[in-house]
Amino acid sequence: MAVARHGCPPWGSILGLLVLALAAAAAWDVSFLRCSLGSFCECDFWPDLPGLECDLARHLAGQPFGQGPGGEVIEGLCTGPSPQQALVLSLHGWTGTGKSYVSSLLAQYLFRGGLRSPHVHHFSPIIHFPHPSHTEQYKNELKSWVQGNLTACGRSLFLFDEMDKLPPGLMEVLKPFLGPSWVVYGTNYRKAIFIFISNTGGEQINQVALEAWRSRRDREEISLQEVEPAVSQAVLDNPHHGFWRSGIMEEQLLDAVVPFLPLQRHHVRHCVLNELAQLGLEPREEVVQAVLDSTTYFPEEEQLFSSNGCKTVASRITFFL
Ligand SMILES: *[C@@H]1O[C@H](CO)[C@@H](O)[C@H](O)[C@H]1NC(C)=O
Repeated sequence: MAVARHGCPPWGSILGLLVLALAAAAAWDVSFLRCSLGSFCECDFWPDLPGLECDLARHLAGQPFGQGPGGEVIEGLCTGPSPQQALVLSLHGWTGTGKSYVSSLLAQYLFRGGLRSPHVHHFSPIIHFPHPSHTEQYKNELKSWVQGNLTACGRSLFLFDEMDKLPPGLMEVLKPFLGPSWVVYGTNYRKAIFIFISNTGGEQINQVALEAWRSRRDREEISLQEVEPAVSQAVLDNPHHGFWRSGIMEEQLLDAVVPFLPLQRHHVRHCVLNELAQLGLEPREEVVQAVLDSTTYFPEEEQLFSSNGCKTVASRITFFL
């Protein structure tokens, strides 16, 4: 477990879960979280890490990793009032494996207003950048939004969904905000958090998980080192991904590539039970079974992983109540 420098407490277990990783062995100093560092809790940034950890542990199905990137990631968020550079996470995995869920929990537990906080900015290609022919205009807009928002509050979260559907070239404008070149703009820019989400690399992650299963290894034994290179390569090879030729991967401006493993039947069960609890309903076994039986699984032969993870669980439950 990496204990970051600058007297930062080990936030490993929280980011560990976030990054599907790091043994949950840390006992961090909760007093650190009470904004005792003054500028640490600026604007709406009001982290509740024990809450986040607890929620992830209870509700995120099937994403425990043995080891994580730890050090740098922790440092990024964790150096209190003045981190060295922005925290940059890229989440990858098959549909319905929990990427959006994790990012919404992050928003919820790091910012008082959650996803509705004025300092949490959620970008979706079809809403914000629908026309590839307007790329130049989008580039200017995005740059001035990020710049404007970070000037207003350094503790801002920028969330980019469906990275594989963005107009090519758009993400280039983010590059100066992600790396150490923050000096160009000023110190506020190092406190930002960027989260990028895509399905890119999902097939590669599934393949690793499948091979692990076939050789009777626990999915918990899959290491980040086994998965990450394949995911990074899939991103580099995908001309539709926002990082294509942006230099962001090449120059290693990401603190962590976070792979989400495909979900098995018992993970989907976990999602069904969560959903029933959310609805305030008893966990009726016949409902759970009906949802599990209406889920499709792959590969054809082994019927191992849910085709769309837990994505349609909520909508299908209503059929069986
Ligand atoms: C902040 O970002 C939003 C988009 O999320 C944009 O509409 C707004 O104009 C930006 N604010 C500033 C000050 O640039």
